[in-house]
Amino acid sequence: MAEMRMDERLALAAVGPPMEYDAKRIRKAVDGKVVLITGASYGQGEATAKLLAKHGAIVVLAARTRPKLDEVASEIILAGGRAHTYAVDMGDLKAVDKFAAAVVKDLGRVDVLVHNAGKSLRRSAFRSALRPQDMESMVGVNFLGPMRLTLALLPHMRKQGGAHIVNIATAGLLMPNAPRWGFYIATKDGFDKWIRSVAMESRNYGVTVTSLYAGHIKSRMVATGWVARMPGHTPEQAARTVAYAITRRPRTMAPRGLRELGVVSTVFEGPLELTLSLVDRRSGETKASDAAFTAAMGVAGKADV
Ligand SMILES: NC(=O)c1ccc[n+]([C@@H]2O[C@H](COP(=O)([O-])OP(=O)(O)OC[C@H]3O[C@@H](n4cnc5c(N)ncnc54)[C@H](OP(=O)(O)O)[C@@H]3O)[C@@H](O)[C@H]2O)c1
Repeated sequence: MAEMRMDERLALAAVGPPMEYDAKRIRKAVDGKVVLITGASYGQGEATAKLLAKHGAIVVLAARTRPKLDEVASEIILAGGRAHTYAVDMGDLKAVDKFAAAVVKDLGRVDVLVHNAGKSLRRSAFRSALRPQDMESMVGVNFLGPMRLTLALLPHMRKQGGAHIVNIATAGLLMPNAPRWGFYIATKDGFDKWIRSVAMESRNYGVTVTSLYAGHIKSRMVATGWVARMPGHTPEQAARTVAYAITRRPRTMAPRGLRELGVVSTVFEGPLELTLSLVDRRSGETKASDAAFTAAMGVAGKADV
């Protein structure tokens, strides 16, 4: 596991979510079980696949980047584990249906489903008009794709007598609304609300659901700008939080204190929104967004819109 600065260590110990490492317990929960992880080519998904395979899980790795999936699978197999790869774009709903059918045909069952694939975006609404394709791909991977995959697998999970689903949501859903994160928060929240509703039905036939409101993870997703400097879990540490979700099956998991903060922020919603709006006036777009805007409009990309 990568070394952490002392302040990061303290921050993580203080806020969680829990990343207890109980090898026996993990093995008991996943040994010989089929664990499907979307977004397993990089970051938290890759680390989770490696951790669970080490404890006997038959991992099903899904993402778009075929060579990277094969690389992760080879590493797992060379270490004595079992892994299967499926290249799929979660935004392509027909492809998601085919993927689900192929997994059931090839492996017969899915005991644990980890909805981990995701796309993040910080961009003003003003500039988003130039990139409608980003809006569509976010709705696909964060909302419709995981919904479709759940619907395709639920009948099999019910027939086999139960399963567990982990939804990798974000701690941002428990915090005050933030400017420029609208697409990300809305799509992650939409799916989480949907799966929490499904959870109330599916527990009656043995399919339980954990929503993991993940804190900051130092992955490819947040590799640039000020977010890259924030303290957070390494993907390997984040994988332990996912393992905790699978072994203990809590209804939800979140960094400590965030729910309380959520209640306070609801009470003070008006003043908070005003403050964040004032802060937003002073903060800029990302360099990539500036460049895209400049190219599209043929104007100097001043970062104040
Ligand atoms: N990083 C954070 O601070 C943070 C905080 C809270 C929650 N999360 C959530 O944690 C999860 C994992 O993110 P990460 O931090 O590990 O980011 P990451 O390293 O960027 O990994 C994202 C994964 O999703 C896959 N993916 C993206 N679009 C896809 C698509 N259309 N179809 C199929 N797979 C797709 C990517 O693979 P391909 O590119 O190969 O398709 C990759 O494997 C996400 O759901 C994210 O929202 C992250």
